[in-house]
Formats: sequence, C-alpha cells, structure tokens
Amino acid sequence: MRCLVTGAAGFIGSHLCERLLQEGYEVIGLDAFIPYYDPDIKERNIAALLPQPRFRFHRLDLRQDNLAEIVRSVNYIFHLAAMPGLVQAWLDFDGYWTCNVLGTHRLLEAVRRDADHLRRFLYISTSSVYGRYASGDESLPLKPVSPYGVTKLAAEHLCRAYAEAYGLPLVVLRYFSVYGPRQRPDMAYHRFIRALLFDQPIIIYGDGMQVRGNTYISDCVEATIRAMDAKVGETYNIGGGEAVTVLDIIRKLESISGCKARIRQEPPRPGDQRYTFADTSKLRSHFDWQPQVKLDDGLWQQWHWQEQELARNSQRRAKSQECSAQSE
Ligand SMILES: NC(=O)c1ccc[n+]([C@@H]2O[C@H](COP(=O)([O-])OP(=O)(O)OC[C@H]3O[C@@H](n4cnc5c(N)ncnc54)[C@H](O)[C@@H]3O)[C@@H](O)[C@H]2O)c1
Repeated sequence: MRCLVTGAAGFIGSHLCERLLQEGYEVIGLDAFIPYYDPDIKERNIAALLPQPRFRFHRLDLRQDNLAEIVRSVNYIFHLAAMPGLVQAWLDFDGYWTCNVLGTHRLLEAVRRDADHLRRFLYISTSSVYGRYASGDESLPLKPVSPYGVTKLAAEHLCRAYAEAYGLPLVVLRYFSVYGPRQRPDMAYHRFIRALLFDQPIIIYGDGMQVRGNTYISDCVEATIRAMDAKVGETYNIGGGEAVTVLDIIRKLESISGCKARIRQEPPRPGDQRYTFADTSKLRSHFDWQPQVKLDDGLWQQWHWQEQELARNSQRRAKSQECSAQSE
C-alpha cells in the first residue's frame, strides 16, 4: 500500500511519515520547504526519513508543479501541506490563499484525473475553522476569525465539493493545538520553552486565561492512522483530553525548568482563539482511540527535545566557524 503525505517535511507530516513506514507502508513525501519558518528546520525534520528504503521524497510546490505523476497509484493521501499559524496570515494573505486553497485545488484536480487506486483522501483541517470558541463536537458552527481559518475552511469545502461531484473518498480531520518534539518555532509552547532556555521574557498575548486542549504529537498521529479506516464523508475532531490555560502551561514549564518565568503581557492578537477544547466522542467511539500522553509528560518531551536541539545547534555553529577560520 502506498501513501502520499503532503507537507512531509513539516512538524506533523514528518512524524506521520515515520509512523506510516513503521506500519509497513510505502511512503511518498512531498514538500516545497516554504520559508515561513527556517527551511533548515524542515531539512532536519526529514533527515532520518530520506535513507529509508520505502520512503521517496519529492520537492514539489502544490501551487505550480506537475502533480500527475506523484498521485498515480497512490492508495492514501494525507493532505497536510499548508501555511499554518495566525500572525503571518494577516500579513501574507497571498501566501495563505495560494498554499492553502489554490494548492489544495491543484492536488484535487490531479487526483480527480487519476483516482483508480485511491482508498482515502484525508484532508487535515484545524480547530480554527470553528473560530473564537472551538469547544464542542464536529457540529459546532464554522465561524473562522482569521485568514488562516478562513483559507483552511475554504479548502475543506473544496474537498467536499470534489467528494460530491467526483466521488473523492474524503475524510476530514480537525486537529487541535498539536505539541511535542519538532513543534513549529512560531507556536506558543515552542516560544515559551525557547524563552526559558535563553532566560528571556515569555510574551503572552492577552490575559493568559485563554484555554487550550492540547494534542500530543503521537496521539495525533495515532488518531490519523486509525482514521484511514473511517467511513467516507466523515469529519473528526482530534484533540487531547486536558484543557489548560496559557498561564497553567507557563507554571508547568517553570517546574520542568526549575526557573521562574518573566512574563511580558501584550494585547490580544486579532484572530486569537479564546477557548479550544475538542469533544472527541466520535473518534473515541468509532476507533476506540484515547489520548495516551499526559500533558506533563508531553511538555517534558518537548522541553527535552528543544534543549537537545539547542546543544546541537551550538555544535553546528562552532563547527562552521572552525571551518571558515581554517579556509581563511
Ligand atoms: N500544528 C498544529 O497544532 C496544527 C493544528 C491544527 C491543524 N494543523 C494542520 O496540520 C498541518 C501541518 O501543520 P504543521 O504544524 O506540521 O505545519 P508545518 O508548517 O510544520 O508543515 C506544513 C508543511 O507544508 C509545506 N507546504 C506549505 N505549502 C506548500 C506547498 N504549496 N507545496 C508543498 N508544500 C507546502 C511546508 O513547507 C511545511 O513543511 C497543516 O495543514 C495545519 O493546518 C496543525
């Protein structure tokens, strides 16, 4: 069985590829290394995948490259490629519109022309499609409050249109705040940990009482794998089981680091969500899925990974300084 993962060099995509290989699938990864965060990080995300015999990687941009060849004889498509994140979306609508909507449209067109082998097309959506209060089950009203949420919802609707018109075997998964090793550098917990490691102030937007239901990366990937058997047309929320405020998270990170955080409060950002907590009853009842990783353990894993990355980066810097000194 062959799987295509778009956004394979990203945070979640790289973990998903690893797990699919462990499960015995042949995996095709696609990514364009879009530089809204350092592409070197993405290179590192997939470094361990590249030598694996059942993994092939294609550096392709969904917005402009020919996709016909890559979708041929694929059995499962996991469509994760997108521009995520909140702040940038107000500044670069063109990037969000083209990567999230146009890119999805070009992929759907390629699939429509050659879908003989396709069993499932899993579109990876987000709690942001629900808007400011994303707390409940999949029937919550869809009221995105950021260009990111709007473009992700537009792509979700586009997938549904292809399902209706051309029988695309669609399943929609809405992820809620995923965290753990390789979390994107723009995401809150990554920023908080980095600030503590560098003894810098932690910037929070608003009063810090906004609530998040976090999903540890391995729980997110497990739910995604189980959803490969979902009934065509289903939509699932994927989220962890513990709701906490941003200030709770900072207290937990203080106890992991043994350092007192210096908090700098800034005004809330336009489009910020106030309360996100997934009702995952449907996912639990259909697939007997349960989040396995407790928030305290997951945060510790992410802390440990960022600490190691910091050490590896300073080794890399020292080595490159040594090389340039030798060549002078
Ligand atoms: N991280 C979360 O908490 C979270 C929550 C909800 C939903 N999601 C969704 O999960 C998916 C993955 O998120 P992530 O956090 O791993 O982000 P990420 O930025 O780490 O990964 C996305 C990858 O997609 C690639 N990409 C973007 N546009 C592309 C294009 N036009 N062609 C080819 N590749 C392209 C990027 O280069 C990147 O490597 C996204 O669709 C996002 O909307 C993530």
